[in-house]
Amino acid sequence: PLVPIDKVVSLSKRRGFVYPNSEIYGGIAGFYDFGPLGVELRNNIRRFWWWSMVQMHDNVVGIEGATITHPRVWEASGHVENFVDKLVDCKKCKRRFRIDHLPPENVEQNKCPVCGGELTEPRQFNLLMETYLGVVEGDRMKTYLRGEACQNIYLDYDNVVKSSRVAVPFGICQIGKAYRNEVTPGNFLFRQREFEQWDLQFFVHPSEMDKWFDYWKEYRFNWYQTIINHKDRLRFHEHGKDELAHYAKKAYDIEYRTILGWQEWEGIHWRQDWDLSRHSQYSGQDLSYTDPNTKERYIPWIVETSGGVDRTFLNLLLDAYEEQPDPMGKGNDRTVLHLHPWLAPIKCAVLPLQKNKEELVNTAKDIHKTLQRFMVCQYDDVANIGRRYRRQDEIGTPFCVTVDFQSVEDQTVTLRERDSMEQIRLPIAELPMYLLDRVTW
Ligand code: GAP
Repeated sequence: PLVPIDKVVSLSKRRGFVYPNSEIYGGIAGFYDFGPLGVELRNNIRRFWWWSMVQMHDNVVGIEGATITHPRVWEASGHVENFVDKLVDCKKCKRRFRIDHLPPENVEQNKCPVCGGELTEPRQFNLLMETYLGVVEGDRMKTYLRGEACQNIYLDYDNVVKSSRVAVPFGICQIGKAYRNEVTPGNFLFRQREFEQWDLQFFVHPSEMDKWFDYWKEYRFNWYQTIINHKDRLRFHEHGKDELAHYAKKAYDIEYRTILGWQEWEGIHWRQDWDLSRHSQYSGQDLSYTDPNTKERYIPWIVETSGGVDRTFLNLLLDAYEEQPDPMGKGNDRTVLHLHPWLAPIKCAVLPLQKNKEELVNTAKDIHKTLQRFMVCQYDDVANIGRRYRRQDEIGTPFCVTVDFQSVEDQTVTLRERDSMEQIRLPIAELPMYLLDRVTW
């Protein structure tokens, strides 16, 4: 069954994955903070992306840009003019909607999807978030928090070409925050006003655009397949003419199915020469590329893969969450997060069977200290062993190591696996290698 969003919202708050931002002031819509476990999961997700996109591709490098740029960037990018949407209000219940988020039949019938009331005429608004630089009133410069992170990549493209040993075809990656004045933020991390994107901009000769578009489209689909349990909930959706963003000639979304229906997770965009041509034109700098062998001069075309870190975080929680009833009917139900061991925030918990037995505690603390050098590892001696297993299951810890009286005698421990709950006996000396092999990519 598809997991209700409320379940992961509640787990996230209870166990320290995600908190509403400014909660003591009543919160602020569209902003969230990540707690101790959330930040571990998020870092693992980011690291896995960076590893596979940058480190594993010889022709891809990374940058990290500022979130504020020169305001002209957003004129050149087309966002000042085109990053607009239409919103309508319900005359009866006063709710506000973005037209492109309404079901088509409600737009057609001009009817509120919540109360059935009549909707107002559509009004346009721009999604860019404004900010002002400078201290003297009247002398302050209006600019924008970046509406899409990838603009820095076009701005730094020429510097990267000149300062690194890259040659077309090559890519530049970045992970970073973006900001949008969404009128209807909601569904937890799904639509926020501050969120994080991961982008690859891959620069190619126009004659090779098809080949690379297909390569990255398949690569990104397989990447998501690797980290989810429900493989059948992933699909492509090709954009129709009316769905294409202003910079895209062709686009596919990688979609994932949750309780919210099929929704975009990542976009694969055929941006062609839109970005470099526009920035050449607006900045007056020639951003064309000269092939070092043929001396041909041209504006490279761009394949973009652009996904959301927060949406990945949310989708992975929804994909991993399961409530399992006790098969014996004795009330030992458990909630499990079947997170991929590579991404799980805590890789291993070390649990002495009893906390009032010094020899058990000492052995467990020694094991914990050793494992901590290799992976994120938790020591826990509070409550009975069953409760402690449940606690780790709920946060997705793939392995628990239990130290019992036999451990003190023969230097072995019990290793319990989260999904199968199977237990094996292992020598303490073999633990680090055994675990590393399973929790690192
Ligand atoms: N540079 C291309 C670009 O920005 P996009 O489809 O607007 O394309 C890319 O955004 C990804 O960013 C989306 O697939 C989604 O995962 C994420 N994203 C976009 N808007 C978001 C929002 N308001 N909250 C959370 N994630 C968002």
